[in-house]
This record gives sequence, structure tokens and C-alpha cells, in this order.
Amino acid sequence: EEGESASSEESEPDEAPAADGPGAHTGPPSAPLPPAPAGVGHESPAPSRPPPAARASSPSQGTASHPPRPLAKPAVFVPVNRLPEMQEERLKLPILSEEQVIMEAVAEHPIVIVCGETGSGKTTQVPQFLYEAGYSSSDSIIGVTEPRRVAAVAMSQRVAQEMNLSQRVVSYQIRYEGNVTEETRIKFMTDGVLLKEIQKDFLLSRYKVVVLDEAHERSVYTDVLLGLLSRIVALRAKRHLPLKLLIMSATLRVEDFTQNQRLFPKPPPVIKVESRQFPVTVHFNKRTPLEDYAGECFRKVCKIHRMLPAGGILVFLTGQAEVHALCRRLRRAFPASRARAPEKDQEDSVEEMRKFKRSRARAKRARTATLPQINLDNYSVLPVGEGDEDREAEMDEEEEALGSDLDLDLGDEGPDGGEHPDASLPLHVLPLYSLLAPERQAQVFRPPPEGARLCVVATNVAETSLTIPGIKYVVDCGKVKRRFYDRVTGVSSFRVTWVSQASADQRAGRAGRTEPGHCYRWATWFPAPPSMSPCPREQQPRGHAALPVINFPFPTPPSTEALVAAEELLIALGALQAPQQARRMKQLEVSRLSCPITELGRTMATFPVAPRYAKMLALSRQHGCLPYAIAIVAAMTVRELFEELDRPAASEEELASLKGRRARVAQVKRAWAGQGASLKLGDLMVLLGAVGACEYAGCSPQFCEANGLRYKAMLEVRRLRGQLTTAVNAVCPEAGLFLDPKMQPPTESQVTALRQLVTAGLGDHVARRVQSEDLLDEKWRNAYRTPLLDDPVFVHPSSVLFRELPEFVVYQEIVETTKMYMKGVSAVEIQWIPALLPSYCQFNPPLEEPGPVYCPERGRVLCHRTSVFYRIGWPLPAVQVD
Ligand code: CDP
Ligand code: MG
Repeated sequence: EEGESASSEESEPDEAPAADGPGAHTGPPSAPLPPAPAGVGHESPAPSRPPPAARASSPSQGTASHPPRPLAKPAVFVPVNRLPEMQEERLKLPILSEEQVIMEAVAEHPIVIVCGETGSGKTTQVPQFLYEAGYSSSDSIIGVTEPRRVAAVAMSQRVAQEMNLSQRVVSYQIRYEGNVTEETRIKFMTDGVLLKEIQKDFLLSRYKVVVLDEAHERSVYTDVLLGLLSRIVALRAKRHLPLKLLIMSATLRVEDFTQNQRLFPKPPPVIKVESRQFPVTVHFNKRTPLEDYAGECFRKVCKIHRMLPAGGILVFLTGQAEVHALCRRLRRAFPASRARAPEKDQEDSVEEMRKFKRSRARAKRARTATLPQINLDNYSVLPVGEGDEDREAEMDEEEEALGSDLDLDLGDEGPDGGEHPDASLPLHVLPLYSLLAPERQAQVFRPPPEGARLCVVATNVAETSLTIPGIKYVVDCGKVKRRFYDRVTGVSSFRVTWVSQASADQRAGRAGRTEPGHCYRWATWFPAPPSMSPCPREQQPRGHAALPVINFPFPTPPSTEALVAAEELLIALGALQAPQQARRMKQLEVSRLSCPITELGRTMATFPVAPRYAKMLALSRQHGCLPYAIAIVAAMTVRELFEELDRPAASEEELASLKGRRARVAQVKRAWAGQGASLKLGDLMVLLGAVGACEYAGCSPQFCEANGLRYKAMLEVRRLRGQLTTAVNAVCPEAGLFLDPKMQPPTESQVTALRQLVTAGLGDHVARRVQSEDLLDEKWRNAYRTPLLDDPVFVHPSSVLFRELPEFVVYQEIVETTKMYMKGVSAVEIQWIPALLPSYCQFNPPLEEPGPVYCPERGRVLCHRTSVFYRIGWPLPAVQVD
């Protein structure tokens, strides 16, 4: 029904100002336009105007064959030799008409905010403006931060392509991976990478400009980064090495940035990019499918494809598993030849596994009989200065976890699932989510095969981070899956919730980029977002123990409650000195909260992992546990080593194969957990076994496939292990640590020491199996109590301790699905609790000072108490003086 030619006609007005110079709305008078530089290679309007004069930047030289012409004003202009078709594409973007305004603002102000709708060209164009204006040279570059890895990789590729430059010049760096070279001038990175660089060089002297993209996301990292950058800009100005900061946001709600005196004493200018958004008609479904929204999406796509004019379809679903299921279903409905992944050969890996088991048996024989006791005051592993790279991408990891954590009802036959659409027109179905391999992500930006209709099934990465060209129809399930963290109870849960009105509008807007579009949804109301914090405190930036948190210029300061909770955890872990008893009794006031950091805290802060894990590492030099602790911590940090097998099957044969794999994984886990002491280390022993066995097998994809491990996750574990090992060695060479590819399994006494380390680190995650008196109520069968929850929690069925159910356990996290489940469970001996977790115990008579109840020399419990309780009332055995 819509005119086909709309896009080319509508784009004219935008081209005009580019050709005629800055629009009438331009503020300050601008320099006369120079002619287009020679050698641009086509007749189209000048790709970019030179920036205003008086810019103190050292010009990069143009290539010899395309020397820049002398300019009317002494401004720097670095020519870019774009391909004509690329240039044509660019000129359609609304942001091109604002180039002059943006660059003038950048020249005059240290900090500039750019707002513009998703797809207006912020991410791809602003770095090019800066490059052309000479904001990069061989020793100072343009940095662009993205909250998601997907965006960092995809955008660096896109910009390189648009500028006709290699990825040696326009590069990216994400956790563990990147293609930065000496020639790099524009560097896309995740915000975690930049945070890490700030730790190494607080002035960020390598950068002349930092672009903070997607500031509207307001993740903890972007907020921390903003706070730090505001300080860095001021410092650099003092040293006459000005650093420019550009903040880019897809929304106009930037008061947090402009009105915050502490953050920016002088409000930065805000430049709004008017985007050309075509009207999008929103259609509401008559029925609201509360359950089978994925099925409803399927039917909607079929209908659009059969009945409506050409134009791409973008479907929003909530998680990776759903995305795959819908892709499969659509491909079956509209078949196109597609190569199937070959079945992997499992023989090799089985042999490797046997070898590992044999060597473990050897080690067991060699075990020592003495029961070690770890010493809480012995954290002399470090200090470590650097070597650790970055810490980011939790959002991505989370999404991965999300993709696998909810059971999704995606039954193939919905109420009218028998529908078999006309398959004459090919449908080019592509998935899109954060952790999809970059090559496969890039596919969505390519035009579909001739005659086919593009259909992208995405999670909400497509909401603002990535703009897919040619989308005319949006099918929005109206939901989003998020990980929630209850600060009070410490429970993480994955929940599918309704999206906010703002998100829904964003999603609909994806349909109107190039011509009028249509959006199909069913929710007509959007409840207020839940009040729980989506940010677990252990995911708050690591090493924040070392940051002056209280006076930190957060755009929006975290709640007092969150700060108190974070600080309490750090005090309990021993990273911060406990305030005097008297002060603790009072309701703590934020301004008084700055407890001094302890030596243990300083050691912990140097590890690029969450505080609990950092504590484990800091203590783990004892009993030769360091390599094992590193392996366990790396595995816990990466999360979800095992592939998701609880997903619903699409067919009988898939169901059978899933069942087979589940049995196989359970068997593998039992083998890795072993018996006796090692079984008591529980799921963490499984992690250790997985890492050991996988390295033994050379971390091959075949091995992972055969044992139900996620290959990508195992590669990350390997990198993180390497990183942590290097970190320890850099400053503590006498630790003599090396990354042993054939790591011998721990001896029995080492396993016991490891269990103690884990207990010391996860002290606030202790759970106790319910006692018989509770069992009158059926819901407490096999349940555990934790100090913070009234409800029962359970050992997750995938745990190797599911059948053991020890009385005391520590867990890595609680995840709520059908019940509250503990994951990453390990058994604890009751007598360890007062010794290893004194700050979580009440002693009678009380301890004078909260602090160790250890005698470091003897490694024995020092205090004599008549009674000891864990936190809120579990009696524990009284400890005796030796
Ligand atoms: O950052 P912002 O949302 O403002 O826009 P952008 O990401 O710079 O995208 C500008 C345009 O480039 C969009 O219309 C995208 O469709 C297009 N683009 C593309 O065609 N291929 C890519 N790999 C990336 C972006
Ligand atoms: Mg963008």
C-alpha cells in the first residue's frame, strides 16, 4: 500500500544541506566551505566539511596520492577515500546535516552531548567526523565505547568499510579479543575495556577523543565511566592536553548528565539530531497471548510474508533459545536449502577423558593424609599490579545465561499451528543476539538473496544497539527477559516482563527507517518496571573497593541501601576495615561510610573478578591451591560452562538426542566430581574437572561437544586463567605459577583446602538443610534455609550434590525458576563456619573486635566461646582453644 519510491525521494532534503553548507539553524558562524578534496573519487557533495579553525591537533597526513588541498582556514582535514555507493548511503543519514554543528561544539567545548534516534547515524558517523577533523594521529586515537560486544565488533567493521580503510586502522577491542594495531586510529571497545585502561593510565593519554556511545543504557559501567571521564577531562585540561568527550544517547532524557553539578559543573551543550522517522502504524492483536507469544509471532510472520508487500521483518523475542526455536520453525515453514552442521566425532574426546581419569586416580593415590587448615591471615599472594585486561561484557554473558535459563513454551503446534503457509516466496531467516558469532551477526546487514524477504529474529540487541537496514515490519512480543537481583535476599531471577512504553516505541520505530512501516504487538498497557535492581552487587565494577565510592560523581548515585549493602559485603569479606562498633549501631549515613581499605582488600582489588572470588584467590597460595582456585574462579566467572539441555525439543528425534545428551552430561559430571572429599567440593569440583579435562584435550571443539561443554565458554575460561596467572606472576614471580595445560588433579588435602577457600569467599551464601521439625510442611522437603529468605531453597537438579544434600552448603547463586534453586553448590563442614566466617557469626561472650578468630602461626582457632551462632540463629559448635 505504501509508495515504493519513498526512500529515494525523501532523502533529498537531507542531501541538500550537505551540499549547500550548514543549515540555517547552525549556531555560530561557520568557516567558508572549501571545495571537496581532490581524489574523493566521485561527484557527490563533499563528504564532510572541514572543522572550524583553531583546533590544536596534529594533522594526520593524507595519503601521498590524495594530498588535501589547502583549506580556506587553517583547519585540519584528513581525506577519506570512500566508495561512491557508500558515500551515497551515508548522505541519507540525518546526522550528516549536523556535522558542522557537532564539530563546532566539539571544538569549543570539552564535553558535548549528541542525542538522536537509533539509526540516525551516531555510532557510524561521529567517529568518521572526528577522524576527518584530524582528531587522531599516530600517538593519539579516537576511542568509542559500546556497552555491548556485538556493537563494538559490528560497528568497527561497518566504519572501516564505509571509510574504505582496513581493520588495522578502524579496529575493535573487546574482552580477550581484538584487532588493534599500531596503525589504529579509531578504536571501538566495550566500556569495560576502557575502564581497565583507566586503571592502567588514569589520564588516558593515548586518546584525544573518547566517545561514550549508548549513554542512555545507563549500565553501571557507563555510569562509572562517565564519572571517571568527567574527572579525567578536567585533569587533562589542567595539563594542557585537552581530552574531548562526546556522550551519545538515543533518548533526549539527558538531565542526569546536564543537571548534575557534581558530574559536570558547566552543563555541556546538547545537540539534537532530527531524524527522519517515517510513520509507523501500530496494529494491536485482538487477543493477548500471555503464554504462547512466540507461537503468535510465528503466525504473524507467516501472515505478513504471505500477504503484505515487500519489506524486511524484524521480530523481537526475549532470549537466545526462543530466537533459535522461532528461526527453526520459520525455516521449516519456508524451506530454503541450508547446510546442517555435521555430527562431531566423539571418539577422541572419550579417550582424552579416560586419560584424565587415569591421571586423577594417580593423584588420589599420592594424596596426603593430613587435613589442611587454611589460614585467613595468609593472603600474601600479591599485590598484583596489572596484566588483567578487562572485566566487561556481563550483559552479554547474562544474555547467554538468560537464553538458557527459562523453560520456554515453544510447542510447535499452537492452537492453529497446523497452518502451512505458501512457501513460494523465499524467507531469509536470520537470528540476532549478543553472543552470536560476529560473522553471523554481520549477515543481517547484508541484503537478502535476490527475491527473498529478510526476516531477522532478535533479542532486544536490535532495539537500540544495531539498526538493521530495510525493515518495514516489526513484530514485537512485547516482552523482555531480564535478570533481576533482589538486594535484600540476594536472589537472582530471570524474568520475562513487559517492556516499558519507551522500549516498545523504540522497537516500533525500527520499522520506519526507510519508508512507512508497520508494527504488530499485543500489549496495550505497560506496567511500571519492577523496582528491583537489575544489577547484582557483585557485578558492580570490580575493584570498586579501591574507588572512593562515596564521593564518586555518579550521574545518578546508587541508592544508599545499595552502597551500604556493597560496603557490608566488603567489610564481611575483610576487604574494608569494620567501623567501630558504636558507629555500626547507628543508622549509617552515606557520607560517613568510607571505611578504610585493608591489605586484603588491596590485594583483592587487583584481581579482575568479583570481590567474593577475589578473596578466594587472595587466600589461595596456601597448600598449593593457586592453580586450582584460578581455574575454579575463572569457571565461576564465565558461568554456564555446560550447554543448555533443558530446552524444549522441536521434534521426536531432537527430544531423543537431548535426552541422550542429558544422560551423558550427568555421567560426565559425576565422573568429574569423583567420590569422597572431592565430591564434597561438589559443583565446583565439576568445574575444576571440566577445566582440567578440557585442557588435557587441548580445549578442542570436539571434546566440548562430546561432553556437553560450551566451546566458547571454555575458551573464555582458558583466557581468564591465563590472565589471572600472568597477573600473579607479574608481581609475585616466586609463586612460580605457570598455566599447566596438563593440570594434575588436586590431592585430597588440597580439595579440603579448596572447600575452605570457597567457604571463606562465599560466606554470606551459606545454606542449611531444614531440620526434621520443619518437615511437617511438604514444601520444605529436601529444602534448605538461608539467612535472608523465608522461603525454601533447593539444590538445583543439575548439581552433583542433588542426591547428597549435605547439611551445610555454600552456593554460588540462587536462581528462581519454578522454585528457588541454588547453583554452584559445595558442602561445608560445620566447624569451619565460626573459624572461617567470624564476621557472620555471633559469639557469646562476644568478640571484642570483629576480626579473625585465628592464630595465624598455628592455624588454629583462638577464641573460646560457649556458644556461636551463624548470623540469625543457627547454633554452631562452640570453638575450643587448642
Ligand atoms: O548509532 P545510531 O543508532 O544513531 O545509527 P548507526 O548505528 O550509526 O546506523 C546508521 C545506519 O547505518 C543505519 O541505517 C544502519 O542500518 C546502517 N548500518 C548498516 O547498513 N550496516 C551496518 N553494519 C551498520 C549500520
Ligand atoms: Mg548507535
